Amino acid sequence: MTVKIFDDYNSMSAAAADIIIETVKHKPEALLCFATGNTPVRTYEILIEKAKASNTDFSRCFCIGLDEWIGVPKEKYGTCHYLLHQQVFNPLGIKSSQIHIFDGMNTNIKAECNKMDAVIDSKGGVDCMLVGIGINGHIGFNEPGVDVTLKAHEQELHGSTLASGQHYFNEPTPISKGITLGLAQVLKAKKLLLLANGKSKTAIIKQAVEGELTNKVPASYVQRADNAIIIIDKEAGAQLSAK
Ligand code: F6R
Repeated sequence: MTVKIFDDYNSMSAAAADIIIETVKHKPEALLCFATGNTPVRTYEILIEKAKASNTDFSRCFCIGLDEWIGVPKEKYGTCHYLLHQQVFNPLGIKSSQIHIFDGMNTNIKAECNKMDAVIDSKGGVDCMLVGIGINGHIGFNEPGVDVTLKAHEQELHGSTLASGQHYFNEPTPISKGITLGLAQVLKAKKLLLLANGKSKTAIIKQAVEGELTNKVPASYVQRADNAIIIIDKEAGAQLSAK
């Protein structure tokens, strides 16, 4: 794990965008995985600007979504499907044949998980994965207490995840469960970018980066991942002793 602390949200976002661009330049057929949420919004804006400015060709890469809400139609504003298309795939001209996102409406969630596992295996693993962190230490929808050996799976969501998740939708939306890549897949990404900014993430970043390795804080497992780059602003890193 490497920790990089930036002066502000904009510069950390630019650094994350640079790593995604470099990945695709180095390996045009890269498998990329993207999270939604507030944290990566600026990274995606900068990624689009830099991709245009540098003529980076995304036409051969393949993209997957980190997670999805179960029981919410994908067309609805706020789903990972909707937001990733709006913020990343459409602006970068990534075609539907280059994308696989969990279908949270599939009544057979196990089959949905198997499909995602098969996509990742067929591409030889994820080349670059961008994730955020929940205030309870979740990554994707891997909530505290999760079995860290799991691949894609269904997850009952905790109160803080449901509360923050509700803000992604433009109207009250019933949510209770999610489908997510498992930590076994997250930690194996060839480059794992964990982003966090702002005061609300200061305490959990301290626990994740310098605390005990425990599934009570799923993100603490990034300490074991040589491939993990923790990209944070000064506020999120304010309690770290090794600054
Ligand atoms: C979203 C996701 C979540 C978020 C996390 C942080 O796809 O996987 O784990 O990354 O809840 O959310 P924000 O960035 O809104 O603070």
